[in-house]
Amino acid sequence: MRVSDKVATRLGELGAELRRGVSLAEQTSLGIGGTADEILLRRYEAIPQIMRLLAEKKIPHKFLGAGTNVLVADGELPFVVLHLPSTGPGMRVEGNVAYVDAAADLGAAVTFCAKHDLGGMEGLIGVPGSVGGALRMNAGAYGTQIGPHVREVELYRAATDEIETLRGSDICFDYRHTSFVSDDVMLRVKLELPPKPYKEILADIKVCNEKRRGSQPLNQKSAGCIFKNPPGGSAGRMIDELGLKGHRVGDAMVSDRHANFFVNVGRSACTDMLKLMDEVRERVHTAYGIELENEVIVWQN
Ligand code: EPU
Repeated sequence: MRVSDKVATRLGELGAELRRGVSLAEQTSLGIGGTADEILLRRYEAIPQIMRLLAEKKIPHKFLGAGTNVLVADGELPFVVLHLPSTGPGMRVEGNVAYVDAAADLGAAVTFCAKHDLGGMEGLIGVPGSVGGALRMNAGAYGTQIGPHVREVELYRAATDEIETLRGSDICFDYRHTSFVSDDVMLRVKLELPPKPYKEILADIKVCNEKRRGSQPLNQKSAGCIFKNPPGGSAGRMIDELGLKGHRVGDAMVSDRHANFFVNVGRSACTDMLKLMDEVRERVHTAYGIELENEVIVWQN
């Protein structure tokens, strides 16, 4: 979607940067997605005014973090994309508490805390994405989830049209699901982490990295796991058992390394990836009676 020149001028006055006709294929780890105008929210304080402006002008919008867990529709998109650019490291530590900007890279945050002898997040080291994205999805891997470490989140809430601070205990963190709503804009987080010597954290990080390298297609375009694991089960194992590794629709393919990673092996269209997801979901349902739920967030027209 394109915003009018009048709205563009107003956005500029509010300290936001407008980028015209941005390709979402270039902004997402799957390398799939059409084009839209993108608004870079450079001043947190102006976010409520910008959101009010978009509401007033009836401009639909979606918030994009690092783009590592999203499948975006093809063509001209009927919304604008909001993005919080990273401005510098955005992290500091006081005692066993870390204050991290939502725009910061998750892996960088894990390493930064480790250097301050703060552990607890080792398993998250290879999870691609921003800290904000990790909060929204309650990212997890190798027995670690971000949720239990969260003490406070500063965010813009569309529901109240204000920047608020929520206590960690007031946020519900479940398996790849939280009580945040889609138009909440994460700004900063306060994490409380267990003290642990840097060397020990590094050793544990190394183990996680090796496991990940040994089982996941890290050099291909993907959004990580495409489906959530059903309770007590493994989506990857079921898809593998059905012999679907390497199964393709156009350039969308079930990874031959990890069956719950769907990769874009060329110039996959969103429609091809969705068709592949439907086909696999159907096969799993027929064979196991289980309806797989998307782990990836889908932005359809
Ligand atoms: N398996 C197969 N074939 C496959 C893939 C897996 O048989 O093609 C088997 C494995 O051998 C293992 C079991 O399935 O016995 C589980 O596999 P894995 O250890 O790879 O974990 P996962 O359940 O598939 C989850 C998360 C990953 C996270 C890893 C490591 C979900 C949906 N996935 O994968 O997270 O990295 O554990 O903790 O919860 C993501 O969220 O995007 C993601 C990749």
